[in-house]
Amino acid sequence: MIRRSVLTGTGSALPKRAVSNAEMAQIVDTSDEWIVERSGIRNRHFAGDDENTATLAIDAARRALEAAGLEGKDIGLIVLATATPNNTFPATATQVQAALGANGGIAFDVAAVCSGFLYAVGAADAMLRTGMAEKALVIGAETMSRILDFEDRGTCVLFGDGAGAIVLEARDVAEDGPGVLFTKLHADGQHCDLLYVDGGPSTTQTVGHVRMKGREVFRHAVTNLADVLSETLEAAGISTDQIDWVVPHQANRRIIDATAKKLGLSPDRVVLTVDRHANTSAASVPLALDTAVRDGRIKPGQLVVLEAMGGGFTWGASLIRI
Ligand code: UT7
Repeated sequence: MIRRSVLTGTGSALPKRAVSNAEMAQIVDTSDEWIVERSGIRNRHFAGDDENTATLAIDAARRALEAAGLEGKDIGLIVLATATPNNTFPATATQVQAALGANGGIAFDVAAVCSGFLYAVGAADAMLRTGMAEKALVIGAETMSRILDFEDRGTCVLFGDGAGAIVLEARDVAEDGPGVLFTKLHADGQHCDLLYVDGGPSTTQTVGHVRMKGREVFRHAVTNLADVLSETLEAAGISTDQIDWVVPHQANRRIIDATAKKLGLSPDRVVLTVDRHANTSAASVPLALDTAVRDGRIKPGQLVVLEAMGGGFTWGASLIRI
């Protein structure tokens, strides 16, 4: 038997307001045709005044808890990945903890932008396996619309808001049993000027806006994602044809397709939600995962690999047997 973090529930939440490419074309000089061709995005959701990162995270977490058959008081660890916290401090995770009645356990935020959920899975898995907690909520939640420059067509059409959550439970399982098998994480701060927010409490005392050199990010993304996927599968002694599903970060359909092609992965084993949700940063992977679990594609016993790359750069992959 081996102690693993077993995935026992998923959940997600989207803001009420859906925004089409046609609506974006009324805000900036763009077109549905350009956005679809260059990114695969058709729709995104933007949070209203009554919605924020914490409310979306709480809704997603409640659905994940329900799927796992648990209540808030059962949770000893909350790791929340976000680049758009409700406040500079306290951590949004503590606000989620209070709303769920999970008081007394561990709760903290992780800042790794679009790779945040992978970093959060890595942190939670390590803490569960070393006995720091028994049951964890791992959440990715964002309101990217709050930090978009709606005069910059190169970025504002690409992002959306949302949240996704999973429950991980420490269990002793057989070697070929379920759980997080391997997580590989990386960062390369030399590229922090290619994708960043031009504000913050310690510098400008403003929240700032997303700035991105899209073409250069694209180039690094395909290489880094293919490398970390290979590294993760190699660590587990798993070949690409044994993978049932890839749940990639949903930034750009062309990045997802190019990465799958580089690894020889069949496109029909790749979960795609970028058309509906756009790039929801740390929320994108758990949102896509929950979508594929709830529509019945991802089933118990299957091998699923999650991957993401984002500002920093940061990137990572996690191999999970459901
Ligand atoms: O989540 C973190 C990771 N982020 C990413 O993975 C994003 C990575 N990058 C990308 O997804 C792509 O680079 C973009 C979708 C951002 C852009 O696609 P691209 O094929 O790299 O286009 P580009 O930036 O090279 O721009 C091509 C043209 C430019 O015009 P010129 O200079 O060729 O005349 C842009 O000004 O498209 C123009 N353009 C637009 N046109 C219509 C840029 N944004 C828009 C727009 N609508 N929204």
